[in-house]
This record gives sequence, structure tokens and C-alpha cells, in this order.
Amino acid sequence: MHVEIFHASKFGNGEQVAKELQKVLVSRGAEAEVHHIRDVNPKKLPSADLYVFSSPTRIGKPLRGARRFAAKVRLPAETKYAFFATHGAPRPDKRTGRMPTSEEMAKWQRTTSVMEETFDSIGLIKMADMTFYVTGIRGPLEEGWRSKVASFADRILPP
Ligand SMILES: Cc1cc2nc3c(=O)[nH]c(=O)nc-3n(C[C@H](O)[C@H](O)[C@H](O)COP(=O)(O)O)c2cc1C
Repeated sequence: MHVEIFHASKFGNGEQVAKELQKVLVSRGAEAEVHHIRDVNPKKLPSADLYVFSSPTRIGKPLRGARRFAAKVRLPAETKYAFFATHGAPRPDKRTGRMPTSEEMAKWQRTTSVMEETFDSIGLIKMADMTFYVTGIRGPLEEGWRSKVASFADRILPP
């Protein structure tokens, strides 16, 4: 199994997840490569059995560069993919101490659904998605992220 992983990490957290995922997949006998989207032509992606895409979040949506990249991807219909988003961890309101409701959180967490729409429109098939949280804008990743990567890998390539 050959997996190509594309991330759009700005502060390095998404890149860390991508590299850990690569490590897990390789330990399970797959071949896996990691690329930043800026180094790749979305119209000429290397061939693979499965593609993993990823984006950080800006005002509830994928980074603009990641959206543009996704819109230019040319892959045959029914190609398999997985997606992971990185998000700021939900925090209590500084003034009231109240945690955001699930509706409020959904507003700031549309990264996966926006990307899914784009990939759906060209007929790709989603195998898995996962959300990874950072505790500050620039990180670090929330505790337990490595075991989350392992669960994500389970859905791409069962152990
Ligand atoms: C200007 C700005 C806006 C952001 N807006 C959101 C947001 O709406 N929702 C969210 O979950 N995270 C938001 N974040 C946090 C990012 O998701 C976080 O920085 C990113 O996932 C870290 O990933 P990276 O290290 O791979 O770049 C924002 C960060 C910045 C700098």
C-alpha cells in the first residue's frame, strides 16, 4: 500500500501529525511520503493507493492555500482519501467561563466539511477523517495526539 500525505501546516503541528502518521503507516508495512502542499503541483500528484490531505483552520475554514490546492486536485473518481484538520482546542470564554456550545464550535470548525465538499465534487471516496487540537494558536498539540494518530491510521490501514 502506498500513501501520499499532503499538509498545509503553518506552525508545524499539522506537519508533526503528518510525520507521525507516516511513521505508523510505515511500521505497518506501507510506503508513505509526506509533502507540504507548497512543494507539490495539485494537478500532478504522485500516484498512490490512498491520499491523505490536511489543513489548519482560519476563521472556521481551511487555510486559503489548502482550499485552492484542493480545488485544483486532479485524481480519478473513486480514488480513496482521508483528511485531518487541525483546530484550536475549544476554550472557556475569558469573561464568563462558559464553554462554547456545540453549535458555536461547529461555526469555527468547518474545515473538514469544506474540504469534503470539494473532494466529493470530483468523486473521491473518503475513508476517514480526524480532528487534532492545539492548545495555543501555534501549538502544542493536545496531549494524547499520538494515540489519536494511531486510531486514524487504524482506519486507513488496520494493524
Ligand atoms: C488567524 C488565525 C485564525 C484561526 N482561526 C481558527 C478557527 O476559526 N478555528 C479553529 O479551530 N482554529 C483556529 N485557529 C488555530 C489554528 O487552527 C491553528 O493555529 C492551527 O491548526 C495549527 O496548525 P499548524 O501548526 O499545522 O499550522 C486560528 C489561527 C490563526 C493564526
